[in-house]
Amino acid sequence: MNWSDTISRRLTERRGTSLWRSRQAHLGSDGRLLHTSDGQYLNFSSNDYLGLSQHPQIIAAWQQGAEQYGVGSGGSGHVTGYTAVHHTLEQQLAEWLGYSRALLFISGYAANQGVIAALMEKDDRIIADRLSHASLIEAAMHSPAQLRRFLHNDPNSLKQHLAKDCAGKTLVVTEGIFSMDGDCAPLASLAQQTKSTGSWLMVDDAHGIGIHGEQGRGSCWAKNVKPEILIVTFGKAFGLSGAAVLCDEQTAEYLIQYARHLIYSTSMPPAQAVALSEAVRQIKEGDELRQRLQNNIRYFRREAYHLPFTLMDSETAIQPLIIGDNERCIALSHALRQQKVWVKSILPPTVPLESARLRITLTASHTQQDIEILLEALHGSGC
Ligand SMILES: Cc1ncc(COP(=O)(O)O)c(C=O)c1O
Repeated sequence: MNWSDTISRRLTERRGTSLWRSRQAHLGSDGRLLHTSDGQYLNFSSNDYLGLSQHPQIIAAWQQGAEQYGVGSGGSGHVTGYTAVHHTLEQQLAEWLGYSRALLFISGYAANQGVIAALMEKDDRIIADRLSHASLIEAAMHSPAQLRRFLHNDPNSLKQHLAKDCAGKTLVVTEGIFSMDGDCAPLASLAQQTKSTGSWLMVDDAHGIGIHGEQGRGSCWAKNVKPEILIVTFGKAFGLSGAAVLCDEQTAEYLIQYARHLIYSTSMPPAQAVALSEAVRQIKEGDELRQRLQNNIRYFRREAYHLPFTLMDSETAIQPLIIGDNERCIALSHALRQQKVWVKSILPPTVPLESARLRITLTASHTQQDIEILLEALHGSGC
């Protein structure tokens, strides 16, 4: 068997099944609208929850950063890629979120992989919520530690796992808001269980930062929980990309020594760090945007109650409609597209078997009329 035969066989196995993945190049999106060569769609699949990807002051900050520093960082932060603006952004994030240190990573995926790979040793264990993001679960699987999964959002299940002996250290892992379900982790109970056994808690708040808590400080702040490791990402409410790890002084120094995703990867462009600093300012002052988003969530949930689908119990911007069957979910997504509404179908293995869903995301940029069009399209989709 040669390379080409293997690849061809594996493609044939998948082609024609509902697991076949494809991408479609579009012409641009502003969070609310998606422009394609077939026309314009109302976009209900964006994570740009506050519409900041189009914010004029953030765009101006990026432009000004590019003029001053050029468009790339020129290397890893350990070589020449760590500038005064990266340092300022780290300090700004640490102060805002109440930590001693923040370390920038190129993406949330890299941050999760880098931190788990650096921290975990043989004899250690990771106890992760079973619906944790792929970047967390894969990092745990590749680490020398044991991986155990507790039942989704169930502190009792975590307690049972914690009660079992472990020769090494334990890291409990969860998301603040779950990316595919939109529900919030019971952070206070999880933190209490974790602390009582001397374990550490790591929370990936990709979908909560910027949205929840005072000044958008995220799910942990909102619940008065300070995990030992907090991951925030900039590809969602911040409207940009990248991530940061928040931790104490000693852990930051440790990660600078051992986190290979930090050491062996080109750092984010300085211009992006300048833009992110402006995004932090906008998020701090973003109560009006957050209020608009909350109004949209409330309005959607009130009206979506009548739809012939299971609406998940989510109070966040992520409002999944559970369809179950893969083929039906794909057909629904296509039917919505015929009506110029863009909602991506999310299928196993990204979500558990038989829970294919339309993952609707609402943003502060949507109007009430946009949501009415979505609801009408759902009603008219023939389901
Ligand atoms: C919960 C969660 N963590 C991490 C990531 C990865 O972040 P990034 O897109 O910055 O790589 C995502 C992105 O989809 C996510 O939803």
